[in-house]
Amino acid sequence: MEETKLKELLDSLSWPEKIGQLVQLSGDFFHADQLAVGPQKKLGIDQKIVDQVGSVLNVTGAEKTREIQDRYLKKSRHKIPLLFMADIIYGYRTIFPIPLGLGATWNPALIEEAYEQTAEESKAAGAHVTFAPMVDLVRDARWGRSLESTGEDPVLNSAFAKAMVTGLQKDLLNGGGIASCVKHFAAYGAAEGGREYNTVDMSERRLRQDYLPSYKAAVDAGCQLVMTSFNTYDGMPVTGSKFLLEDILRKEWGFDGVIISDYAAIQELIAHGVATDDREATKLAIEATTDIDMKTPCYAKELEPLIEDGEISTELVDRSVYRVLKLKNDLGLFEDPYRGASQEQEECVFLTEEKRHLAKKVSSESVVLLQNKRDVLPLTPNQEKVLLVGPYGDNQELIGLWAVHGKREDVVTIKKGFEHYLDSEHLLYTQGCDMLEDYTFLGEFGATKDQIEQLGLTDAMKEQELSQALTLAKQADTVVLALGEHTMQSGEAGSRTDITLPKIQQDFLQKIAELNKKTVLIVISGRPLVLTKEVELVDGIVQAWFPGTEGGNALADIIFGQTNPTGRLSMSFPYSVGQLPMYYSEFKTGRPLTSPTHKGRFVSKYLDSQNDPLFSFGYGLSYSKVMYTDLTLSSEQMHETLKVSVKVKNISKRTTTETVQLYVQDVTGSVVRPVKELKAFQKVALDADEEKTVYFDLTKEELKFYTKNMTFDAEPGAFIVFVGPNVKDTQEKSFTLL
Ligand code: BGC
Repeated sequence: MEETKLKELLDSLSWPEKIGQLVQLSGDFFHADQLAVGPQKKLGIDQKIVDQVGSVLNVTGAEKTREIQDRYLKKSRHKIPLLFMADIIYGYRTIFPIPLGLGATWNPALIEEAYEQTAEESKAAGAHVTFAPMVDLVRDARWGRSLESTGEDPVLNSAFAKAMVTGLQKDLLNGGGIASCVKHFAAYGAAEGGREYNTVDMSERRLRQDYLPSYKAAVDAGCQLVMTSFNTYDGMPVTGSKFLLEDILRKEWGFDGVIISDYAAIQELIAHGVATDDREATKLAIEATTDIDMKTPCYAKELEPLIEDGEISTELVDRSVYRVLKLKNDLGLFEDPYRGASQEQEECVFLTEEKRHLAKKVSSESVVLLQNKRDVLPLTPNQEKVLLVGPYGDNQELIGLWAVHGKREDVVTIKKGFEHYLDSEHLLYTQGCDMLEDYTFLGEFGATKDQIEQLGLTDAMKEQELSQALTLAKQADTVVLALGEHTMQSGEAGSRTDITLPKIQQDFLQKIAELNKKTVLIVISGRPLVLTKEVELVDGIVQAWFPGTEGGNALADIIFGQTNPTGRLSMSFPYSVGQLPMYYSEFKTGRPLTSPTHKGRFVSKYLDSQNDPLFSFGYGLSYSKVMYTDLTLSSEQMHETLKVSVKVKNISKRTTTETVQLYVQDVTGSVVRPVKELKAFQKVALDADEEKTVYFDLTKEELKFYTKNMTFDAEPGAFIVFVGPNVKDTQEKSFTLL
């Protein structure tokens, strides 16, 4: 539809019709299943409002969405189609690893491909918008939603934000892809204490420097929508924050797409204590330019009286309505309200061989080899007896909490993967131990007492499993333990203060370790766990996240050396939970700990823990060894750019891909600067014994930061460049910015 026609349409709508466009309701209002992601409340919304709402939350599937659309359009005076929005976070039917695993690939180009495939499946299933990517920077592993983020670094997160939006929205205006809604704007990942929905309070400098860039990257990549976050920033919940939404997002960044509140976040302005009732909450949110109210009666009931009483301007509401209509128009919904969704199309594009193949590739690249003592890995197929044990050994629960449209039955288990490499004589398997000692916490998520009692192993089974595992372990040469968090222990509202492996699994591991076999631990988790004890107990550690539909195959390829692991951490793994929040790019302190063996007090350190993480940002092993030499700068002085080069040599007989990382320290600034900041990275393929020179163009632009006066500038003076395989093991050279 042409712009003038769209404007005419807007003008022809009554106020209730206009306001309807700004209301989003969930499936239960449309006789569809309800996907519960927030507190369930009676909204007091009647059918008249439902018949006019603009969008539907979390209903997917071609059959269902088409049926709802048809029913709705029949009743609709102006035939404005519904928008279907859903949480499609890391795959629709083909599930990729959780985003923290995607971050560990350090391969945005690959992730762009994955999101393009996800969009194809989602579109077939009738989704028009996905609430992805989630690009919240996270530095506190206690936060359950670490799972959804690509990690702790603004440069890396921004690269992924751009890739994901680009992948999802490929060819969007010509009918391709689906619209991307970046979330949760802003700084949601900095919730105090890592506690879900908690306060965020930080300087504007840090906000701009570290937390905003990934959202900005998504906006620059053209994301059509932005979701507000639940948290406050500087005393104001974001959904009502003019500063964040209007001043920064709309005015500074020029974002003119749709802003949608997070689930019930408008009404929660009352609980936050910045509004006394729905009316005040509505006023705050609309004035901050929040366009769509997700799942509360606020806009539906309060916008019209506010307009009538002259408390908000008609233009303000019209602008919001127009943005929603424009999105519908840009997506071509007026021409085809289903956007090509059909069951035939679903069959064509769901979980194809190519998609499985891609999922396996992504999964392989996401796995991080954390430890390989005695070169325990890779194992050789059919040469030794391997015992696979643990609650994740033969478990299809490898897709994690936010894969709501994925199907467990599609998942390749680790055991299935191992069977490609080991015949029945060489593969021993038993579950060995339960996932959790106590499942009662699942009651919080709706499980009934009876259901909870059915979960897990009975005491007799536990005993039997343990004795079976110990017997088999004695027969085996190597024991592979597949352990990890329960799916419900991470994700939204999955904050934890103890982020070790569940106790029952730790005890089990201890018993296996006492047998002195070669041991490999595969960790399934939605966050960096504290693995400090495990490091001592096992030879190999493979961090597998929730690896997705093809997880079992990807892991088997790595364990048996078909694939050389190349994943690198995008989030530091703490040594102790007491260190959190933790991140490599910390500010310099006046009393830094310069030697880990420092004795005495009065430097910035803990009395009972090392300062360093257990595993640093950027860290990850492979089966090859790569040497870094000859770090060279094209000049010791920088005007606009500097060429940085380093030689990397694969000194092993195995092809590998090395992630070469470049960090910078601004030695003296008008404000305190971080000890190191990632500026660039490259993935470099290296054949056996191959040497390559890797070049980076470091620019003045990359040295900019928010100065004392809050200008975004690079300040002349001394800098240090660090290059290496991770943030810790680097070589360095100095230069001066003129
Ligand atoms: C979550 C969002 C999600 C929304 C809709 C909220 O609880 O914070 O990430 O997109 O629900 O399901």
